[in-house]
Amino acid sequence: MNTRKPRMILDCDPGLDDAVAIALAVHHADLVGITAVGGNVGLERTTANALSLCDILGAPDIEVHAGQDLPLSGSLEHRATEYHGPYGTGSVQLREPSREATSKKAVEWMIDTIRAEAGIWLVATGPLTNVALALQRAPDLGDQLAGVSWMGGGTVGGNTTAGAEFNSWVDPEAAKIVFESGLSNLVMVGLNVTHTVLLDRDWIDQLGAELGEDPVAVFVDLLDYYELRQRRMTTLAGAAVHDALAVAYVTHPQLLGGVRRPVEIVCDIGPTRGMTLVDLRPRRHPDPPTATVVEWADVHALQQLIFDTLVGFVQS
Ligand code: BDR
Ligand code: CA
Repeated sequence: MNTRKPRMILDCDPGLDDAVAIALAVHHADLVGITAVGGNVGLERTTANALSLCDILGAPDIEVHAGQDLPLSGSLEHRATEYHGPYGTGSVQLREPSREATSKKAVEWMIDTIRAEAGIWLVATGPLTNVALALQRAPDLGDQLAGVSWMGGGTVGGNTTAGAEFNSWVDPEAAKIVFESGLSNLVMVGLNVTHTVLLDRDWIDQLGAELGEDPVAVFVDLLDYYELRQRRMTTLAGAAVHDALAVAYVTHPQLLGGVRRPVEIVCDIGPTRGMTLVDLRPRRHPDPPTATVVEWADVHALQQLIFDTLVGFVQS
C-alpha cells in the first residue's frame, strides 16, 4: 500500500471552511505551500488568515504566497462577509501572524514550483483567479500536475445566485480558462455534494469538549459562527464545510467520487453568470468530458475525519 502523503499546493481564501481545508491539508498532505486569493474577504486578510492558521496548527514554516485580490474582470460586487464575518474568521480576530507572506507572487511561485516537480496536486478552494493566470501563462503545467481539485460550482444551481456558487460567481472568466485548459484530471467538488456533509451543533459541541483550552479550540469558535450563520441564512441543518471536501478528495479518495462529464462555465452577464452547466443527459454519445464532477460522499466518514483531524492537533 502506498502510504506517502500527496504533495499539494492549496490555493484558498480563508474563510471559515477554508480554515478547515487548511487543517486537513496540513495533517494529511505533504503541503508544498499555500497561495492566497481574494474571495470571501480581501487578499490582505486571506493571506494574514492563512499565515495565522499555520501558526495555530503548529506549521509556521509552510510557505504562504499572496496572489490576486480581484477577479479577472477587475471588479467584484460583494465578498462573503455575511457568512464569514468581516475578517473572514467569524467573530474571532486571529492573533497576528508570526511572519510576513513568503512572497506576493503566488502565480509565479505556482508556475516555478509545478514546473520543477511533477505529480503535485493543486487544490483550489476559492475563486480560480490565481490558477487561471498560472495555466494561461504556463499551459505546460497541465502535464506536470497530478490534478486540480476545485471546490466550486455544482450540478443543481448556486448559493450566491440561483445559478451560481460563490467561487464560480466571483470569477467565471477564470473558471472558464481552467475548464477549457485541457487539464486531464480536473475535479469539481460542487454544492450538490458539499451540501450533504454538514457539521451540526452536536458535532461542534462534542468537538469543543475534546479541544478544551488548546489553541486549536479556536476552530470551535470559527465553526460556531459558521454554523449559526448558515442556519440563519439557509435551510441547511448545519455548517457545510465545502472546502474541506476538495482536500479530502485528494487525501482520502475512498470517501468521495464522481463521474467525468462535460461542464461549461457561463460568463454571460445576467442571472446565469457563473453557472457551471453540467451535462447530465444520459446520452449514448456525450460530448468529451471536461471534469470529474463529484456526485457522492461518505458523509459520516468525512464528518469523523474532520473531527479526528482537529482533535489530532491538540498538543499533548
Ligand atoms: C465557497 O464559497 C466560499 O464562501 C466558501 O469558502 C467556499 O469556498 C462555497 O460556495
Ligand atoms: Ca473558500
